[in-house]
Amino acid sequence: MNAIVVREMSPDDVQAITVIEKASYTMPWSETSFLSEVYSRHSITRIAELKDKIIAYICIKQVSDEAHLLNLTVDSAYRRQGIATMLFNNVRNDLRENGCRFLYLEVRASNIAANKMYEKLNFRIVGTRKDYYLNPRENALVMMLDLSEKS
Ligand SMILES: CC(C)(COP(=O)(O)OP(=O)(O)OC[C@H]1O[C@@H](n2cnc3c(N)ncnc32)[C@H](O)[C@@H]1OP(=O)(O)O)[C@@H](O)C(=O)NCCC(=O)NCCS
Repeated sequence: MNAIVVREMSPDDVQAITVIEKASYTMPWSETSFLSEVYSRHSITRIAELKDKIIAYICIKQVSDEAHLLNLTVDSAYRRQGIATMLFNNVRNDLRENGCRFLYLEVRASNIAANKMYEKLNFRIVGTRKDYYLNPRENALVMMLDLSEKS
């Protein structure tokens, strides 16, 4: 594959991102949701680009030694090629350098691809949130990664 570039998300990226977002989720984030992350001083927002085309993005919010992975999505045409893993690892190093210890996320219990990926990235299930998701209504698994552990 040609070189994939990872860079900071900018407001100008948000329109293209929401096209991928709408194709990926039954309850997609709006442009406003992405813009509020881009402008938040607590957020890390990055995209992966291939030949100037956005193919993946990640949003993480960090407060003190805790962070929350809010969104990690890959364009369906580019999945299963290690792109989410690469983008996640890119941000993980910065979280560690920023003094973050614990990274949390919620994921649909039925989202096999995401569950397997987070398991492979050493997240472990630490709880469930009943009926957390709508359309369809479903429990969330809460997962946590201890960034002080070796990866
Ligand atoms: C989940 C998602 C981000 C994975 O992105 P990706 O770039 O395809 O993931 P990777 O190629 O880095 O895969 C890493 C590992 O995850 C697991 N995995 C990924 N997709 C999988 C699938 N469809 N079925 C089973 N395991 C899967 C595998 O263990 C894989 O490693 P392997 O290919 O060496 O076996 C992508 O499927 C996606 O964008 N889905 C829609 C949005 C979403 O659900 N995001 C997560 C919300 S919490």
